[in-house]
Amino acid sequence: MGFMPRLPETAPFSPSQRAWLDGYLAGLFGGNPEPSAEPPPPAEDFPWHDPTLLLDERLALAQGRPRERVLMAAMAQLDCGQCGYLCRTYAEAIARGEEASLTRCAPGGKPTSRKLKELVAAFGAMPGVPAAPAMPAPLSPEAAAADRPFEARFCAARPLNRPGSEKDTRHVVLAAAAGFEVGDSLGVAARNAPELVAAIIACLGASPETPVLAPDGVEHRLAEALAEACEIRRPSDQAIEVLASRALDRDHSLVLQAMAEGYPGAGPEDADLLDLLEAFPSARPPLSELISALDPLQPRLYSIASSPKHVAGEIHLTVAAVRYQKRARRRLGVASTFLSDRLAPGEKVRAFIRPAAGFRLPASPDSPIIMIGPGTGIAPFRAFLQERRAIGARGRNWLIFGNPHRDGDFLFEDELLAWCGDGHLTRLDTAFSRDQDEKIYVQHRLLERAAELWAWLGDGAHLYVCGDAMRMARDVDQGLAYILGREGQMDAAAAKAWLARLAAEGRYQKDVY
Ligand SMILES: Cc1cc2nc3c(=O)[nH]c(=O)nc-3n(C[C@H](O)[C@H](O)[C@H](O)COP(=O)(O)OP(=O)(O)OC[C@H]3O[C@@H](n4cnc5c(N)ncnc54)[C@H](O)[C@@H]3O)c2cc1C
Ligand SMILES: NC(=O)c1ccc[n+]([C@@H]2O[C@H](COP(=O)([O-])OP(=O)(O)OC[C@H]3O[C@@H](n4cnc5c(N)ncnc54)[C@H](OP(=O)(O)O)[C@@H]3O)[C@@H](O)[C@H]2O)c1
Repeated sequence: MGFMPRLPETAPFSPSQRAWLDGYLAGLFGGNPEPSAEPPPPAEDFPWHDPTLLLDERLALAQGRPRERVLMAAMAQLDCGQCGYLCRTYAEAIARGEEASLTRCAPGGKPTSRKLKELVAAFGAMPGVPAAPAMPAPLSPEAAAADRPFEARFCAARPLNRPGSEKDTRHVVLAAAAGFEVGDSLGVAARNAPELVAAIIACLGASPETPVLAPDGVEHRLAEALAEACEIRRPSDQAIEVLASRALDRDHSLVLQAMAEGYPGAGPEDADLLDLLEAFPSARPPLSELISALDPLQPRLYSIASSPKHVAGEIHLTVAAVRYQKRARRRLGVASTFLSDRLAPGEKVRAFIRPAAGFRLPASPDSPIIMIGPGTGIAPFRAFLQERRAIGARGRNWLIFGNPHRDGDFLFEDELLAWCGDGHLTRLDTAFSRDQDEKIYVQHRLLERAAELWAWLGDGAHLYVCGDAMRMARDVDQGLAYILGREGQMDAAAAKAWLARLAAEGRYQKDVY
């Protein structure tokens, strides 16, 4: 019998998805599964591997599984690679004792790192929990990609919103010779805001020149360590513990200790390092002790918004600048404001390509695609549309975009309308959520076009969702299940299974954050 591919044991599919896919592959390659005396080992599924599920929901789905799977369920399930692994391989490395840091899951934040700490402590006292067979040592494409940084040249960060908008989304243009495919993201090594760094140094009463040991284990000048090497917007529990242990005032020490242990209400969950230093002036540890206990400043990821076949030598990003007021101080998102505000044309930015894990255009240029991308979720779809134009793909393209107001927030309006005008965009639907009394979201537009959506899927369309994970993608998922159930006369469970099968076929892909 000729080559007949089978899904690897570790592929994150449920048994039904796996059975269907194995059958599909057998059909495609014209073979029957190899006869074998041994029944195939039961396939492992990863039902919690969905970034739209809440932490508690994910953990409930992993109950009774081996400890590395429970640890995996605590991760944010984005497979974003910021930790240097995938969610599964990071969890396996922790379970094998090869990875000591429990704070690497940036999108999971403190809830994930605290849960990991709790689980690792609990598993230590529960030898009955079996470990799954060891997996090969992790060298994920994500880790490998982050190990291959390159320098991009900053060109511009043009506003995409009109004056008067409450949002500030930028069209960031970088020049770089890096190779990538549409669907990939760019990892950006940003620097913390200089005002925050200067205020921390002043509050510590230190000199910016003082040599300190940074979390990367390398000695830096204090100013450089705080600017480039440390996460200062979210001080680690370990750093808070250092502050607690060195606080001269007993009350300060107790409150800080409670904060480090995550007691609800002990202190503001979102305090940055400056908040802590100002609120607890008796806590002034030796500099290296404090600085080395902070988490390393991790790169931030941005979906690439351009196709190399359309604009060679450039990488475009669609970046929403994070700025807000809290406790009488203006707070700035590290990387989004670094890219939006703090770079001059010609400046170098350290970056790497994060290959998309399952966010790709269909292999056939004739297949129709449906793209649901509100807000910055439009980014990869601009790249998809550029790519399909560049390769002369004839498949139909349908984009559903949403943002607060048509007047101020219709990102890439001119480009999108031009593509509508010349037929490259077969359909463009917009959901401007705040232009009327009741909210209108992308899923409401889909509901209005339910029959058409069903017909496109019947024609083999691939369905994509990009943008906010916890609110939008979760609700869109539910909305789609409702629509498909109605159009296909399925009950809720069958509609969910239908969507899961679409995902297993690679025809329902999400890039959410
Ligand atoms: C695969 C992937 C693709 C992504 N693509 C894009 C993209 O195309 N465009 C894009 O803009 N982003 C994208 N992101 C998100 C991006 O990586 C960053 O998370 C985002 O820009 C914020 O990073 P920051 O460093 O500016 O903010 P940080 O310094 O990390 O601060 C963000 C934190 O600030 C807090 N915060 C934010 N707003 C408020 C508020 N109003 N009130 C109180 N607290 C608040 C929240 O805790 C939030 O987590 C993507 C993420 C992933 C994982
Ligand atoms: N994990 C994260 O930390 C995370 C994830 C995504 C975005 N953000 C941050 O949010 C900011 C803006 O992001 P963005 O520009 O991508 O836009 P966005 O905030 O995601 O909003 C885009 C559109 O989606 C609508 N929306 C809100 N809830 C929705 C839901 N449940 N279903 C469908 N649509 C919904 C919004 O409407 P209304 O606003 O009118 O309700 C708006 O019209 C940025 O600062 C970004 O970094 C953070």
